[in-house]
Amino acid sequence: MPKVRFMTLARHIIEGEKKHPEATGELSKLLSDLSLAAKAISLEVNKAGLADILGFTGNSNVHGEQVKKLDMFAHDLIFRAMDHGGHLCVMASEEEEDIIHIPSQHKLGKYVLLFDPLDGSSNIDANISIGTIFSIYRRITPEDKPGTLEDCLQQGINQVAAGYIVYGSSTIFVYSAGEGVHGFTLDPSFGEFLLSHEYIKIPKKSKIYSINEGNYLYWHPGLKKYIKYLQEEDAKTDRPYSSRYVGSMVADIHRSLLYGGIFMYPSDYRHPQGKLRLMYECNPMSFIIEAAGGMATNGKQRILEIQPKSLHEKTPIFIGSEEDVKMVGEFMAKEEVNSEIYLSSKS
Ligand code: AHG
Ligand code: MN
Ligand code: MN
Repeated sequence: MPKVRFMTLARHIIEGEKKHPEATGELSKLLSDLSLAAKAISLEVNKAGLADILGFTGNSNVHGEQVKKLDMFAHDLIFRAMDHGGHLCVMASEEEEDIIHIPSQHKLGKYVLLFDPLDGSSNIDANISIGTIFSIYRRITPEDKPGTLEDCLQQGINQVAAGYIVYGSSTIFVYSAGEGVHGFTLDPSFGEFLLSHEYIKIPKKSKIYSINEGNYLYWHPGLKKYIKYLQEEDAKTDRPYSSRYVGSMVADIHRSLLYGGIFMYPSDYRHPQGKLRLMYECNPMSFIIEAAGGMATNGKQRILEIQPKSLHEKTPIFIGSEEDVKMVGEFMAKEEVNSEIYLSSKS
């Protein structure tokens, strides 16, 4: 019989923590609780076409976007899975304007959880891959009191772990606690995440770009030139590139992680800060991509070094294979003089 490795997510997390004798096991428990929420969301997402869960709630989120029921379902579920474990002092979600306190009857812990409950939610009705993204920090305020906004507004480099779950042709849980990036595929028959991708490394250079080209007219001139460059024919540099855009950043970046690629959501003159949120989307995805050997910038600065000023702030993002991310930065730097509007401080 061939030797089959049988490594569940729970076991992998515990074994990872054992390498650190000072670890208390709290992070392991936190990630295990999150994986439980992921299983429940996965189940619900898979039923989306069947259950009464489809359609709009009629509410919009703090960004003024229409929120579907499944977004709120995922938001509530993650909160309920995470509020009583005793590992967290505060949470924040893309779907809630303010920080989320741990109910007073529960024990407080030393970690902070930020999450995008469902990313790519406009794709739900079309049966296209969507996901959940999470980011974990250690609190910086004193441990005996509830966590504060200050605990949430930390630079991405302070993340102790981050990850995402893609609900696609199968469900995959990808995380990094600093030591490599690992992926676990959900076996639906017995409901366990099993190690399927160990120590994922993103290719240094790719030939796939991912961007909403409908916004071309409004882009930075350097970005326009870069995309045109990718479309030119040149065997030596393996051009033209292919274009892929799912419209769920979590799925687009997951593909880039596995196959190589550059994903971009730039600023443009209608949206000076782009569309994607620093705390719920860009920081956790950048943590993963960097841990896999890739790169993530806002065109000028490393995403993980941005000092956040508010919970829901947005940032332009260029993320993926290192050589590609460097190159787009170079194209944009050449057009520096007229580019300030694209990185202005407006949100
Ligand atoms: P969310 O569903 O959490 O609001 O995020 C949607 C985001 C992101 O996942 C995706 O890459 C982007 O919106 C797509 O935006 P465009 O339709 O402007 O391309
Ligand atoms: Mn999102
Ligand atoms: Mn969302």
